[in-house]
Amino acid sequence: MVDTLRDGSLLYLDGVSVTFDGFRALNSLSLVVQRDELQAIIGPNGAGKTTMMDIITGKTRPDTGEVFFEGGIDLTKKDETEIANLGIGRKFQKPTVFGSHTVWDNIELSLKKPRGVFASWFYTRDSADTDRITAILDTVRLTHRKHEFAANLSHGQKQWLEIGMLLAQDPKLLLVDEPVAGMTDSETEETSKLLKEISKHHSVVVVEHDMSFVRDLDCRVTCLAEGAVLAQGSLEHVSSDPLVIERYLGR
Ligand SMILES: Nc1ncnc2c1ncn2[C@@H]1O[C@H](COP(=O)(O)OP(=O)(O)OP(=O)(O)O)[C@@H](O)[C@H]1O
Ligand SMILES: [Mg+2]
Repeated sequence: MVDTLRDGSLLYLDGVSVTFDGFRALNSLSLVVQRDELQAIIGPNGAGKTTMMDIITGKTRPDTGEVFFEGGIDLTKKDETEIANLGIGRKFQKPTVFGSHTVWDNIELSLKKPRGVFASWFYTRDSADTDRITAILDTVRLTHRKHEFAANLSHGQKQWLEIGMLLAQDPKLLLVDEPVAGMTDSETEETSKLLKEISKHHSVVVVEHDMSFVRDLDCRVTCLAEGAVLAQGSLEHVSSDPLVIERYLGR
């Protein structure tokens, strides 16, 4: 039964615990992400949301527990580079774009390409690359700014550009931590649409505190607290759970 759940999943965490200086940041966390699923993660400060992403991406090792990708790949045995190359892309809260390059070049520089010095010496952009860059710019709402230096974008547009740079790597799973913090209301609305579009062809896990944004995502919601799942299901279901109200929403 449990194995069937793991085999069919894109990401499978079971019984994951991690302790920092005696503090249990994750406490037997179990969570599944399906292929092409959009899932929102909510929960109070210190619940372990970012730590969960650190575990998935290999930045932090669990003390105990299983972390499997695509059913059979044991992520606890891989380092950060290997995990990125398997197709797990992560967006941190602070955008890290190349400010002195154009929007177009930022995407082009991020394209998944053969690595190594020789490969990059002989790289020439072909029409397939141009089509991909064009499509990604369209998805992240930056076509009209493609010749602009990335430094001149608004905060929200920089976040979108970074999402575009992740898409250029064609990840199977995107992990996005608090994407709409600091965005304007209209940028926030656009971001929910954008992530919904992306999740048609990629799995996306979004951590957010902004509940109207989470409502717009219209997806499965998991509420973490004290390093474990407190409630899971539709936003209606989760937000009416007495424990979720007591430990998060009602605060
Ligand atoms: N590398 C680390 N070393 C020590 N303690 C850590 C480390 N990473 C996280 N913690 C602690 O683990 C707990 C969980 O933190 P985490 O950042 O995962 O919470 P979060 O759910 O992302 O919270 P927020 O909503 O505030 O971003 C916190 O108490 C934090 O201080
Ligand atoms: Mg966090």
